[in-house]
Amino acid sequence: MESDLVKPRILVTRRWPEAVEQELAKVYDVTFNASDTPLDQQTLAAAMGEYDVLAPTVSDRIDADVIKAGDRVKLIANYGVGFDHIALDAAHERGIAVTNTPGVLTDSTADLTMALLLMAVRRGGEGERELRSGQWTGWRPTHMLGTSLHGKVLGLVGFGRIGQATACRARAFGMKIAYYGRHPVSHKTACDLDAHYYSDFHKLLRAAHVVSLHVPGGAETRHMIDAAAIQSMRKGAYLVNTARGEVVDHDALAEALRNGHLSGAGLDVYPEEPQIPEALLGLENVVLLPHLGSATHEAREAMGRKVIANIHAWTKGQHLPDQVA
Ligand code: DGY
Repeated sequence: MESDLVKPRILVTRRWPEAVEQELAKVYDVTFNASDTPLDQQTLAAAMGEYDVLAPTVSDRIDADVIKAGDRVKLIANYGVGFDHIALDAAHERGIAVTNTPGVLTDSTADLTMALLLMAVRRGGEGERELRSGQWTGWRPTHMLGTSLHGKVLGLVGFGRIGQATACRARAFGMKIAYYGRHPVSHKTACDLDAHYYSDFHKLLRAAHVVSLHVPGGAETRHMIDAAAIQSMRKGAYLVNTARGEVVDHDALAEALRNGHLSGAGLDVYPEEPQIPEALLGLENVVLLPHLGSATHEAREAMGRKVIANIHAWTKGQHLPDQVA
């Protein structure tokens, strides 16, 4: 057992599921943010000089100013797979290691992608609103018709773990799989998923009846779905985003949903969470969820365990299992 004196000090910026909070607190000197609301930039900056390890989430902006504000933190162990909210270059310059939690939220996020996709093509949000507001007048042959998935093309933008897990599920609905990414996946993966590779982004957009986004956030993918990309999508297509909000230009999306170029959209992520782009709020044909991709008991506990495994490895000077910088 290590003595209390050598226990690393860890700041966890949000509350975790109880089981993993306890697991972490058993071994380290941990401060959990009891308020469970985002810490401001000043508090995060101060933490850089007070703790050995920072365990942030997607709701924290760990920018270069925060990173340079103190020299005690030596590990940023992110609770989440995406790390576009962390200034990796600044961390690297200061010799701070950064880790994430890949793999353990793949299934939960792919499940939610399918839920949003189904809600969008079958008008689930609209239907629920109609019923709850007492407007439903009963079954009729032309009531709230949606689009069947069988035989339709799902165009996956980004074909990593979550994109592939989504493809697996979509195939069970009879969808054909197409994807765009920097490189084609291995022959075996492509065969297993019967997935067709497009090296041309706009060609993929033209081919797909539903486009689902699975790329990381950051400068490279910002507004990848802009007005021109939306124009390349088939008339009547759908867009699903469980990746990062800023990948989509929401003004262009709202316009396409309004003028009927797109039939619908399902969104789980937004550029300035928790704010929702105003233009979307009044539209019936968009399903809006509050960043629930990984929100299952199973995934959120497993994410905590991944953070703990990275911290353990770091304290022992071992190879970090999920180092991204
Ligand atoms: C992630 O892990 O990056 C998600 O967006 C939050 O679970």
